[in-house]
Amino acid sequence: PLKIVVIGGGSSYTPELVEGIILHRTTLPVKELILVDVLMGEEKVNIITDLAKRMFINAEMNVDVSYTLNRREALNGADFVLTQLRVGGLDARRKDERIPLQYGVIGQETTGPGGFAKAIRTIPVMLEICRDMENICPDAWLINFTNPSGIVTEAIHKYSKVKCIGLCNVPINMHYDAAERLGVNPKDLYCEFTGLNHLSFMTHAYYNGADRLPEILGIDVEEGIVENINKIEEMDIIANQLGFMLSPYLQYFYFEKSMIQEELENLHSAKGTRSDEVLEVEKGLFELYKNTELNIKPEALSKRGGARYSEAAISLINSIYNDSNELHVVNVINHGTIPELPQDSAVEVNCIINKQGATPIHIGSLPTTIRGLVEQVKMYETLTIKAAVTGDRTTALLALLNNPLIHDVMDAKNILNDLLDAHKDLLDNF
Ligand code: NAD
Ligand code: G6P
Ligand code: MN
Repeated sequence: PLKIVVIGGGSSYTPELVEGIILHRTTLPVKELILVDVLMGEEKVNIITDLAKRMFINAEMNVDVSYTLNRREALNGADFVLTQLRVGGLDARRKDERIPLQYGVIGQETTGPGGFAKAIRTIPVMLEICRDMENICPDAWLINFTNPSGIVTEAIHKYSKVKCIGLCNVPINMHYDAAERLGVNPKDLYCEFTGLNHLSFMTHAYYNGADRLPEILGIDVEEGIVENINKIEEMDIIANQLGFMLSPYLQYFYFEKSMIQEELENLHSAKGTRSDEVLEVEKGLFELYKNTELNIKPEALSKRGGARYSEAAISLINSIYNDSNELHVVNVINHGTIPELPQDSAVEVNCIINKQGATPIHIGSLPTTIRGLVEQVKMYETLTIKAAVTGDRTTALLALLNNPLIHDVMDAKNILNDLLDAHKDLLDNF
């Protein structure tokens, strides 16, 4: 029987996970689920724990659910640890989104300077969790959902011994989008991905022996695949010209001006930035969660960007536990899979999943049309990790200078100063 520990258990996404555990009950014998949080999140994790209990009872499953603020105690005997925490909460996210915009630069929580700030706040905390895991449950798997997921995963591989796989819900949603456009069962479609977390490209989509991606790209759809990014129509056109299906996060790079304009319009309206929206969605969600009549995952959770998170996370755990050699698109260490990128860096590619973990399938060279962008973002990511662990301000500046969404040294300097100042209580290394 399995013990699963969720760090950041007060997240409104946790009912997703519980649903995933319920759906996998025949193959995944979960006995214990512990939700770990910090004082700031105690009220939320308490509500979620009660909801999780009701969901398991409703499913007639005997899972021991509890919460604790004592991480080390929780880790004792853990088989799988899921991390989904937000250092500094939505307040910190709000600053990450707003500060860059003051300088006319993209304000987003995972790409651009906002993603940099989230990374330097988060990496030291994640490495502390890893220290605990090394001591308390060295054989446990860490499934990391905490953003920026690829960067965090690379930092863990570089600075700890913990077995870690990084996860994002974008690839699985791109896969379902491709299958839906083609009108086929997602299970019958094999999609190949290359690139990085939030910088990914679907390069092939094989159905019954033929690559149907060109056909898929010819079909326009209005709806985007994640709730937090409004789809720009021209994305389908450039995707067609490139010959790849594009992660919605590529809008920030390919349509930077339009995205900044949209962000500024929202900022100066009642809408604010995405964190303001999420704050409202969360309020509504926790009102629902508190209702003792509720014993299933509510539909309203689909207003968050992390759709299909549970499917991705729990089926990944299922593949490891059952040694099933299934394919998942996850964040792993490159080891030459993409020859242009450093051996020890994280990439988001197709992997075979079994008890040994995630083994990337050989992808080969990055197509020339996207190589420059991917390589540049990887250099930014590598420098960001170095800055996070050393607290060196020059390295931090050079990281930002390598981010393709920053075009001027003075912008980089000003944004860095403002971010370090705004988050100083959460940045012990600096
Ligand atoms: P949230 O603000 O609800 O935070 C989740 C919980 O983490 C909160 O209850 C908070 O109290 C807790 N927390 C903060 N610091 C902690 C610490 N040091 N130890 C333990 N718990 C701590 O956040 P959310 O919106 O649910 O998102 C959680 C994380 O998942 C974020 O990092 C977010 O970016 C990420 N996320 C990733 C994806 C993906 O595709 N990988 C998708 C959605 C969200
Ligand atoms: C997306 C991404 C996540 C991102 C999240 C935002 O789909 O894959 O990495 O952080 O959803 O969702 P939110 O509802 O918090 O804006
Ligand atoms: Mn993601």
